[in-house]
Amino acid sequence: MMNNSDIFVGLDIGTTSIKVIIAEFVKNQLNIIGYGNTGAAGLNRGVIVDIDQVVASVKDAVKQAEQRANIDISDVTVGIPANMLQIEQCHGMIAVSEEDGSAKEITEDDVRKVTQAALVKNLPPERTVIDVIPDEFTVDGFDGIKDPRGMVGVRMEMQGVMYTGPKTILHNTKKCVERAGLNVSDIVVAPIALSQVALNDGEQDFGAIVVDLGGGKTTAAVVHDHKLKYTYLDQEGGDYVTRDISVVLNTSIENAEMLKRNYGYAMSSLASDEESFPVQVVGRQEPEKVTEEYLSEIIEARLRQIFEKLASALEQINAFQLPGGVVLTGGMAALPGVAELAEEIFQVQVKVYIPQEINLRIPSFTQVIGLVEYATKQSEIDLIVKQTLGSARSRRKKMPSQQNGNSQPEQKPVTKPKKNNHPNEQKKSQKSSEEGFGYKLKHMFDNFFD
Ligand SMILES: Nc1ncnc2c1ncn2[C@@H]1O[C@H](COP(=O)(O)OP(=O)(O)OP(=O)(O)O)[C@@H](O)[C@H]1O
Ligand SMILES: [Mg+2]
Repeated sequence: MMNNSDIFVGLDIGTTSIKVIIAEFVKNQLNIIGYGNTGAAGLNRGVIVDIDQVVASVKDAVKQAEQRANIDISDVTVGIPANMLQIEQCHGMIAVSEEDGSAKEITEDDVRKVTQAALVKNLPPERTVIDVIPDEFTVDGFDGIKDPRGMVGVRMEMQGVMYTGPKTILHNTKKCVERAGLNVSDIVVAPIALSQVALNDGEQDFGAIVVDLGGGKTTAAVVHDHKLKYTYLDQEGGDYVTRDISVVLNTSIENAEMLKRNYGYAMSSLASDEESFPVQVVGRQEPEKVTEEYLSEIIEARLRQIFEKLASALEQINAFQLPGGVVLTGGMAALPGVAELAEEIFQVQVKVYIPQEINLRIPSFTQVIGLVEYATKQSEIDLIVKQTLGSARSRRKKMPSQQNGNSQPEQKPVTKPKKNNHPNEQKKSQKSSEEGFGYKLKHMFDNFFD
């Protein structure tokens, strides 16, 4: 087995298909060197319902990717779907002083302790913390500290965001990965990883909605100030559309899926009422002729219903006022006309995100690319905080992308930006000098989404 330390692997266990990406981190750049994509079995609406079936599909997808990359992999970053996800602020405080009460240098261990203190909360027995992301640390009253290690103090606080979800989802996901012979190096709330690739920096900062149009579910995620603020999950997705086509046209699921991909539009007014194609109908000898328009009416009806449910949930939290509008991705975002339909219903600017990586230029791959990128971008402090969750989160080799390369913990600037690709981080410390329209809009939502 090859040394995996510069290799990152993303695993997306989707209802329709399992996607794996192997990427190599060279000279500050992520190169995708292998991918796998196999049909999934054993999931329902994004949730694992049959471990054995999922394990078999995961193994297949991993094998494909390994063969393409010509390496064996062991550690993967896996996504957790947003089913029943809850997002909460968390806050912890600890004393860090020496026994005699004098101030002491803050260590990694103290960071873990303060995180633990922030996570002390009575969760219902069926729920657990999936992820915790630090916002800032406060040492003896001085706030805005991104990394407190090496600083001196007697009291430390941590402010962060805690993501909780059903224990069973977390457990089953880990179980499947482990049973497939892999080690879970990181567990990520799927929409967090997705939004980091589907939304650009400005959209993540000023606020936008990203919608993942998957096969088994549709997930809307609201991001603002570079944080996931809200998710809404609708338990219908592209596979419902396929089933509708199959039922209405009286044809097999396989045929329906093929018709959707080859002739379907999300908006029937964009489809031709003259172009028709033959459909093999159950119980009939001769194929029937169906127009693109008719097929698209079936697709549109279901999509419209999904979008309307999303719209009413998103309206309730005023998310459509965020300047970034809506970005669609996920398998169904490949349907022509999907942005037009969404625009009509959401009444804001809508665009489609398609990954630009060679061989991966389909929106089904956005999630798994997001997982790999997320894995490379986490800062050391993010990882230390996350270790508190205790779930096999092995420390990765420090990436050259982290600021100045190989800075020792002691030499760190105390308020360094968390990630190297957030130029806006700088802007935040200069709030008072900002007067523009963008600034006002951005801060209008600060309280609301906090
Ligand atoms: N070119 C295409 N045109 C239309 N629909 C497509 C196309 N490609 C994929 N789809 C649809 O996208 C859906 C699968 O999307 P995706 O791979 O994002 O889902 P998933 O991740 O497996 O499922 P989920 O995220 O819901 O658990 C399927 O319903 C499939 O029919
Ligand atoms: Mg998916």
